[in-house]
Amino acid sequence: MDDRFLEEIAADSGTPVYVYYEDRIIRNYRVFRDAFAGRYPKTKILYAYKANTSLALCALLKKEGAGADTVSGGEIETALKIGLAGKDIIYSSNSKTVEELRLAVDSGVTVNVDSLEELEQLELVAAKRKKTTSISFRINPGIDPKTHPKIATGLKSSKFGLHIVGGSALEAYRRAKEMKHLEIAGIHTHIGSQITDASPFVEAADKLMEFAALLKKELEMRLDYVDLGGGLGIPYHNEKAVTPDELAQAVVSVVTEWTKSLGYEPELWLEPGRYIVANAGLLLSRVQTVKTTPCKKIINLDAGFNTLIRPAMYDAYHRITVVGKTGETASEKYDVAGSVCESGDIFAKDRELPKTEAGDLIVIHDAGAYGYAMASRYNSRPMPPEVLIRKNGTYENIRERETMKDLYRGQKIPKDLL
Ligand SMILES: Cc1ncc(COP(=O)(O)O)c(C=O)c1O
Repeated sequence: MDDRFLEEIAADSGTPVYVYYEDRIIRNYRVFRDAFAGRYPKTKILYAYKANTSLALCALLKKEGAGADTVSGGEIETALKIGLAGKDIIYSSNSKTVEELRLAVDSGVTVNVDSLEELEQLELVAAKRKKTTSISFRINPGIDPKTHPKIATGLKSSKFGLHIVGGSALEAYRRAKEMKHLEIAGIHTHIGSQITDASPFVEAADKLMEFAALLKKELEMRLDYVDLGGGLGIPYHNEKAVTPDELAQAVVSVVTEWTKSLGYEPELWLEPGRYIVANAGLLLSRVQTVKTTPCKKIINLDAGFNTLIRPAMYDAYHRITVVGKTGETASEKYDVAGSVCESGDIFAKDRELPKTEAGDLIVIHDAGAYGYAMASRYNSRPMPPEVLIRKNGTYENIRERETMKDLYRGQKIPKDLL
């Protein structure tokens, strides 16, 4: 991605600001979809909203044909708002409120059930609404996805899903079969995020398909879909990452092999988030000062972990460049610091960059996923705006910068304190 538009966008919208590239999102989506659908025509892609729920991006992906993988009532509402039908939305969470279950039931959303207790609660909600709800169960396959521990979800010890080992997953299907208001549609797993190796996905696919075969044998059950979740990582730092094509080749061959013994072909559902939007977005931030201390040089930005939390939360690496200086040699070493009043708010340590000065514009790359979506107002800083560079070469503001009014909204000072 070149620096075109960035000075202009910063001048128009101020900094920090998130910038997304429409053509890149479309390209990523199509590469992912074609890799799987080209090998397994009964493929359905549900974009994982948690990666980035900006309405414009969700609408763009709907236009491309993506359904929605949601993890809260808010995300269900977002998917409905952009016009998705309930049948194209799946709702997963380890802890769903009754209000969220009601919303899912009323909107015809497929509920991905996480526990036996939740199964009972959902049956009750559906019965009260006199509706039939389509369900799957989230399976915990007990697999090490070889990623950061905070985003590993398929481990035996994680809080997610029902376990095959010990029999609770089979018991869940057995009980669900008896329930009047629930219709068993599928099986689901999501083993983690930022996974760059195909082998954990292959292992998960194998375990899920083996379990689908067990469901057929034990309960004469036929599933409409097998959902393998999301998790495909991107190379943030030139590391080797499995491509959608390589991943699809490995996973689809396992699924196809199992369909022979199953005797039927379920749909294959996938929930990519990061892969679709991560490298299609960047965070633009202005250098406020460059400080020299006895041990280092520090670039102080107007963004912080309130804007992009990944480096502080996961020690994540993001490529950093300086607008207008990409051709220059990286001659200096800097710590790139955020503006939050905490020592942990550092975007990069000892990063080699061209000589950088106050007023320069810094690009933090690959920030399209889990960037804005995880941002906060910590330190009383209003949320940043978002801009979409359209495929026709124009750009549009897709979210306004918040003002202090937004921070005060809904707050009250008791009369005696005024
Ligand atoms: C249930 C579920 N599906 C899909 C995803 C998307 O993962 P990723 O953005 O790594 O593709 C997540 C994120 O962790 C998730 O929790």
